[in-house]
Amino acid sequence: MEPYQMSNQIFKDISQWIYKEIGLKLTEKKKAMVKARLTKRLIELKINSFEEYYQLAICCENEKCELINLLTTNVTKFFRENYHFRFLEERILPKLKSNSKQNKIRIWSAGCSSGEEAYSLAIVLNEFFTKGWDIKILATDINTDVLKKGARGIYSCCELDKLSPVLVDKYFKRLNSSGKSYYQVREGLRKQVIFKKLNLKQAKLYQINSSLDLIFCRNVFIYFDDNVKQEILNFFYNNLKERQYLFLGNSDSIDHIVHSDKKWNLVYPTTYQKL
Ligand SMILES: C[S@@+](CC[C@H](N)C(=O)[O-])C[C@H]1O[C@@H](n2cnc3c(N)ncnc32)[C@H](O)[C@@H]1O
Repeated sequence: MEPYQMSNQIFKDISQWIYKEIGLKLTEKKKAMVKARLTKRLIELKINSFEEYYQLAICCENEKCELINLLTTNVTKFFRENYHFRFLEERILPKLKSNSKQNKIRIWSAGCSSGEEAYSLAIVLNEFFTKGWDIKILATDINTDVLKKGARGIYSCCELDKLSPVLVDKYFKRLNSSGKSYYQVREGLRKQVIFKKLNLKQAKLYQINSSLDLIFCRNVFIYFDDNVKQEILNFFYNNLKERQYLFLGNSDSIDHIVHSDKKWNLVYPTTYQKL
């Protein structure tokens, strides 16, 4: 006998709750995934039903956070969709360099997962700009587990397979733990990346302290519907400097929104310039 049954009703309750909280759309196709991820938690807590677990989660802040951590998908990689980083180096950074009066650059990696995107950006910037540039990358996510990993900045050998040995050596320190090698982002680079919890669904409640040169929000919009995407795009628009750039992921379609609101110009695949 299977111990845990997930009724359609409780799946609907959980889906509606997560949509309201963080904008994540869980369609019927995701039911098996939700059931598998939550079953582990039920076993850990010795709870007998999804109904009982759901009541606990919506009443208790810690468990609410745990539930969100369990239901978000955090797949990421260093230098994922590498063509964006090449475009950045070849077309955008030279312009930023010649137009900057203060030698200062501010970037936001929104939906940063465990930090690979933010550190890839930091590496590209440090390779491009000479010493003396003030570089800061705000890295935000809703999932507190991945944020902790990002702030520690420790990755396995496999996770660094897209980096050349020269870059690994320059930006990472080798650590040995129980016979295995891990690599920690060197302190200088870690200090340039600030990890924070931020819910994009409620982005307008947050204050971003400086206006931004670039926003990366890749492979996040895929989980949202048009209403949520539109609100987040407005927030990005208001926080980005004039004529600067927003990078989305390969499968984050916003073309129909962009077409109707005429605030963005598509300049490269999934790369938009603020008009
Ligand atoms: C697939 S990962 C993308 C990571 C990285 N940007 C990349 O392209 O490799 C999507 C991330 O979006 C985060 N996310 C989902 N909904 C969110 C929300 N409402 N607010 C902030 N982050 C969210 C998830 O926790 C997850 O880490």
